[in-house]
Amino acid sequence: MLTLIANIKTLVQVRDEAISRVSGHQMKYLPQIENAYLILEGDRIHSYGPMSALPMLQINETIDASGRIVLPTWVDSHTHLVFAASREQEFVDRINGLSYAEIAAKGGGILNSAAKLATAPEELLYEQAVGRLEHLIQLGTGAIEIKSGYGLSTESELKMLRVIRRLKEDYPHIPIKSSFLAAHAFPMVYKENHQAYIDKIITEMLPLVAGEGLADYMDVFCEQGFFSVTETEQLLEAGLKHGLKPKIHANQLHRSGGVQVGVKYNAVSVDHLESMGEEEIEALRGSNTIPTLLPGAAFFLGMHYQPARMLIDADLPVCLASDFNPGTCPSGNMNTLLTIACTQLRMTPEEAVNAQTLNGAAAMELEQEMGSISVGKRASLIITRPVPSLAYLPYAFGENLIERVIV
Ligand code: NIG
Ligand code: FE
Repeated sequence: MLTLIANIKTLVQVRDEAISRVSGHQMKYLPQIENAYLILEGDRIHSYGPMSALPMLQINETIDASGRIVLPTWVDSHTHLVFAASREQEFVDRINGLSYAEIAAKGGGILNSAAKLATAPEELLYEQAVGRLEHLIQLGTGAIEIKSGYGLSTESELKMLRVIRRLKEDYPHIPIKSSFLAAHAFPMVYKENHQAYIDKIITEMLPLVAGEGLADYMDVFCEQGFFSVTETEQLLEAGLKHGLKPKIHANQLHRSGGVQVGVKYNAVSVDHLESMGEEEIEALRGSNTIPTLLPGAAFFLGMHYQPARMLIDADLPVCLASDFNPGTCPSGNMNTLLTIACTQLRMTPEEAVNAQTLNGAAAMELEQEMGSISVGKRASLIITRPVPSLAYLPYAFGENLIERVIV
């Protein structure tokens, strides 16, 4: 079964060879073909090229993409898609002067979400997550990482992870990775006894999570007031013993040491990175760890943005992800993220597209499957409405310029 997408104004992110990520100044380069064709075979990319070289094949279905841009779907490598309730009251509290850290210290924030999640039935959590996921697919997201971390008890963490597993089973056309984030905050009862909670995660939760194959990665919120570097080390080591590679929250509010500890344990990615300096850059250089920026959270909290230019100038492979969650970024819209990356992080449209396609795929270890228009990769595509250029996508912010998503 062959599907032809014909007369594509611009086919974006075409990569012949198996490039797994793009770094530094290479990020400005986004390979494109004007007036292109793309042929899909079942769920895979069969071939592509200029219309002038369209091969003579038995085509079953043709989609005309005149005036339209075709690009790979967004790969969102950092979300907290499963949650029980919104938190708009904290949003109002912040407008009235409280900080994110002050709200968290009072039992709001992550602990607020954990209290709501504890009483939510698994079925309801699943239905809410399905609604969010389907909405994100319409907005062009074709692969997604989802974290636990609003459970903070054995029962609730397992409940979240089982919801994610069910999403994986029911959406096989959307690659989903799950991260175990019990180390997201200390429950109130453990405020004075951190080690007891860490022991509980390591000796009670991890064996169950790993035993049921419920997680792909181990996540820790390494931050002042949350998990220290030493605590993070213990947790990452335990995760590795169970086969879970790290993917961590680092340097959101302070230079927490999170980047260095992530690199030390060969994390797939270190995410957030609002607060960065030379030592962090040095640690990332020469490592395989992908620096993942979550500017949606900085936007929504009114914080300073991630130094994307500094990371790109240091020749690093910058990735962008949404951080969709009810507290710090209640939107998983990767199209809005594109605009924030361009206007606030001063990334070019080409750099931003590379960051949320190919480098997003690398940050989920999906570089063989997703992130570019390459023969054999998944036919996971965004077809835009008629638009004048690629730069028009981040430029016309707030518009929905996606006509069709194929996954
Ligand atoms: O990535 N920073 C830690 N975790 C989430 C926010 C969690 C929350 O406030 O619910 C984040 O921003
Ligand atoms: Fe997060």
